[in-house]
Parts: sequence; structure tokens; C-alpha cells
Amino acid sequence: MPYYSEEIIEEVRSKTDIVDVISRYVNLQKKGSQYFGLCPFHNEKTGSFSVSPQKQMYYCFGCGKGGNVFSFLMAYENMTFKEALEELAPRCGVTLPHRELTYQERQQADRRSRLFQINKEAAAYYFKMLRSPEGENAMAYFKKRELSSDTLNKFGLGCTNRYSDSLYKYLRGKGYDDNILKDCGLITIDEKRGGHDKFWNRAMFPIADANGKVVAFGGRVMGDGEPKYLNSPETEIFNKSRTLFGLYLARSTRREYFILCEGYMDVISLHQAGFDNALASLGTALTEGHAGMLKRYQKDVYLSYDSDGAGQKAALRAIPILKNAGISCKVINMTPYKDPDEFIKALGADEYEKRIQNAENSFMYQIRMLEKNYDLTDPEKRSDFQKEVARRIVTEFPTQLERENYTEAVAAKFNIPRDALGKYIIELGQSGITVKSSNAASEARKSVQKPKDDGMKMSQRLLLTWLVEQTDIYRKIKDYVSPDDFEDGVYKKVAFEVFDSLEKEQKVDTARIVDMFMEEEERNTVAALFNTTVGELTDNTDLSKALKETLIRIKKNSLQMAKNNGTDLKTLREGKVKLQKLERIEISI
Ligand code: UTP
Ligand code: MN
Repeated sequence: MPYYSEEIIEEVRSKTDIVDVISRYVNLQKKGSQYFGLCPFHNEKTGSFSVSPQKQMYYCFGCGKGGNVFSFLMAYENMTFKEALEELAPRCGVTLPHRELTYQERQQADRRSRLFQINKEAAAYYFKMLRSPEGENAMAYFKKRELSSDTLNKFGLGCTNRYSDSLYKYLRGKGYDDNILKDCGLITIDEKRGGHDKFWNRAMFPIADANGKVVAFGGRVMGDGEPKYLNSPETEIFNKSRTLFGLYLARSTRREYFILCEGYMDVISLHQAGFDNALASLGTALTEGHAGMLKRYQKDVYLSYDSDGAGQKAALRAIPILKNAGISCKVINMTPYKDPDEFIKALGADEYEKRIQNAENSFMYQIRMLEKNYDLTDPEKRSDFQKEVARRIVTEFPTQLERENYTEAVAAKFNIPRDALGKYIIELGQSGITVKSSNAASEARKSVQKPKDDGMKMSQRLLLTWLVEQTDIYRKIKDYVSPDDFEDGVYKKVAFEVFDSLEKEQKVDTARIVDMFMEEEERNTVAALFNTTVGELTDNTDLSKALKETLIRIKKNSLQMAKNNGTDLKTLREGKVKLQKLERIEISI
């Protein structure tokens, strides 16, 4: 934790209530001593996301994400630890000490801000050029595409001239040296030939981040030519899979959804026609990063991808990504036109508005696309198609209600015998096929390595959870089990902290322990360590029994490990004695 002292971090953590903070983002309901809600990190329909005021931690039983209030902001708002701390401090009345940046930090911050400056200078340079005699061609091009002066200004459009080093010279004249220019994405520096512009003789589209700062450019050939668009490469300030063209403008729309398209020109045309909620990913496929950005602002997205084969494929790829992020999406049909830009030019805004009203439910769209792969005149292929439809209904929708409704709708639209489809769906359901766990959740599971329920680790987690929830257990077990009996790594470190706190203070500050780990995966593991339960333990006899079994298991395992590692005989013997004693005694709780 390089920035602030342990004490100040502790102060902010202890003065902040995690329930308060998370309630700003997630609708929480109290159940017993905890709060529950729908997990914001994966798509789910039943609330497995828990927040504990006692532990000052959250944990999702579905996807395994968890941590303390800092982790939450880091994961949800994509903040760094420092940013999370700076966000929370003023809210709980803590003044953070002013601290000088280290040389390295200053250099870093400096570089980023200079890269922003260079992109800004370049945008202004291109902007001016478009409105000068040198920009005549480009201006004619934009006018041919029916863009108004207002639109040109609003999107900050510009152009480059025919020389291949004019921006380079301009920026050098402004005092920027090759050392930074080589990394801004607009200039290539060649040992022999010197500096050259990446873009020349192109119409220029500045790409802004969510805060309106220019971070990159797209440059279009005026007319035909390859490549049609050239884009800035990724830089320290430009991450393609987290940038959306038009987001800065679209985020302040009053409409309650975004229109997601494919191209720069689509976004611009839509805005010009009054759809100020249009945006696009940058010619790359939509990523989870994009979906996460979209979700911060809107829960509904209308897809307005090209109506050709490539556009349909892109839509089919985007739908599950959006759904997994918890976004509900619909697909706008633009036929017979290729893209929103052409559609608006041909039929105008009112017709487009109608297409929005008639946008297709994304599941129905998926089925319609699926249907194209089958020769429905062949009864065998026809049955294959219908079975696949049934399978998708079962794997997509968890509730009886949804399954019924979709069965109804799909049967009517795709001409499938309603009753037979319904029966087949019930059979599938009974044969054990269930809702696929969303990709986001399984991704999350992969990346967090939600502890596999390998019995051994489970026992260790159980014990730690019990110790923090019922601290008086500690006195009864401390003679038999120690942190050394825990698995190396996060488990052992956490066990050490828990035992140590219980010994010294008879309580455990779980949220503090989270902050001993900086990697997201480790923090998730810590959260799992404090949130492990087995079924319902109804009374204390059950708990006593379970506890004893758990202790024996942990001890046996640890002895075995010690043996394998060639631990000295004396230690082994002592361990054995403890185990035997443990097996004989009663632990009552
Ligand atoms: P389109 O070819 O649909 O572009 O590509 P467009 O915006 O509709 O442009 P016009 O109307 O033909 O002028 C969609 C997006 O794919 C990326 C760009 O982001 C473009 O807006 N793209 C396309 C590239 O990055 N490079 C290319 O060569 C082509
Ligand atoms: Mn186009």
C-alpha cells in the first residue's frame, strides 16, 4: 500500500459502513444478520450476493467475488485502491494527509497528462485544418455525407493534409520531444527517416473517453481506398476494449437506453438525426469491458448493427456479452438498408424511431438466426431445429413462467407445434438440463478460482468462518489446531491473522485482513474463507459434532503433509498426540 499509512486506511475503513456504500449500487434486503441482493458482478436472478455488517465484507455465493468496501469500489467502479480510499475518506470525514508523489509516480502521472495534451493539440490542429483551404477536400467529403456544420463541430471532426510530417513538425514546434511523441499513437519515429505522421490525407474522427478527453483518432480515406479507416494503436491512455465512440455524448442522453452501432458514421448520423444515445465500439468486437461501461449508465441497449452477414454475426456475439453484464437488449431491424447511416438518409428519423419501437427481443432474434441454418422442408432437420429451440429455452430461462411465455411466442412465430414443444421442454428440464451458468459467472469463477470444494480446503474455510462468527470457539480449539495446520499461501496467512487477533483481542477485524492482500483473486479467496457454511446447523450439538469432525480432518491432513515433507519425528509425535486427544474429547459449544 504505497500511498497512505496503515492507520489512515484503518480509520477510513472503520468509519465507513459497507452496507451504506453498497446500497448505493445494489438493492439490498435484510435477512437475518446479513443483507442480500442481486450480484452486480454476474448475471443472476436469485440474490446470492451477501453483505455482512459484522464482517464489513461482501461475498457472492454464486460467482465467488468478495472483499471489503475498498475491494467493492475497486471491482465495481474500476478504481485503484488509492482512488477508492480517496472516494470514501471525505464521506466519513477523514482528511487524507497531503503527500508528495515519488519521482516515479510524478513521471508516470506526467506522461499520462502529456499524452492527453498531445491528443488534444492534435485534435485542435486537425479541427482547424478542416476549416482551412487545405481542408477543402475533406470538407467536401463531409458535406457529401450530409453532415451539418453543427455536427462537424459537435464531434470535433477534422482532417490531415497531404504531407506526411506536418503534425510531427507542429508538435515538435510546441516543445514535445521524440521520447513522448513516439508513444502518443500519432507519430512514428524512425531512426533514419526521423518522425512521421501516422495519418495523412484523411478525414479525422477524434475518439474521446467517457470524460470527453481525446485519447485516439480514426482516420478515413476520402473515397475508396484501403484501409478505409486507420485507427490510433493502443497507448497508455487508450484501451480499445474499454472505449466507446460517442459515449461521452451519449451518457447524458435523456433516453433510457443506448443505441449500439458498428461504425463512426452510424453514430454521427444518428446523433445528427436526434438520437443522442448512439455509440459504437471501435470496429472491434464488443468486449466484456465495453459491456461493463455500458451497464454503468443504462440497463437497456438496442443493437443497430449492419444488416449484412457480418453485422448479424457481430450481433449474435454481442447479445450474450450484454446479457451477462446484466443488460437487456433488443435488435433493431434496418432492412433493406445496410446500416443506420444509410437508413436515416433514406427514410429519416421518424421511420428509424418506428424501428426502435418494433425492435426484436434478443432471444427471438437468436432463434430467427438459428432457423436459417436448417432446411425446414426436411422433417429431420426441422425436428433438429425444434429440439435446439427447446434446449435453448431451457438453458436460457430459469422460471416456469418465462419458459411458458417463450414457448408460446416461439411456437407461434416459428410454426412449431405448441404442445409438443412444451412437453419436450418439460422432459429436458426433468432430464437434468438446467440454466447454463452465465458466461460472466463462469469466467468470474475461472478467474477468481472460487475454491473448489475439495473437502480439505472446505474444512479449513469452515473453521475460519466459525472462528470469526463465534469467537469463543477459539478458546476450545487453540490447543489442538494452529495456523501451521492450514494450507500454505492465503489460507495460512489468514489463519495466522485470525488466531493472532483472537489471542490478543478476542475479536477479528475481517475487513482489515482483506487489505493485507492486493490481488483481486486473493481478496476473493479471503472473502470465501470468512463465508463458508455447510447446510443448516440447527443446534449446538450439530455444530459441536461438525466442529470436532472438521478439526480432526484438518489435523489429520496436516500431519500427513508434515510426514510427506519429512518433518522431524518429535514434531510429528506431538502432532499425533494432539490428534489422539482431539479424537477422545468432547467439544461443547
Ligand atoms: P464500416 O465500414 O461499417 O464503417 O465499419 P462506417 O463507420 O459505416 O463508415 P462509412 O459509412 O463506410 O464511411 C465499421 C467500423 O469498423 C471500423 C471503424 O471503427 C468503422 O467505423 N473499421 C472499419 C476500421 O477500424 N477499419 C476499417 O478499415 C474499416
Ligand atoms: Mn457506413
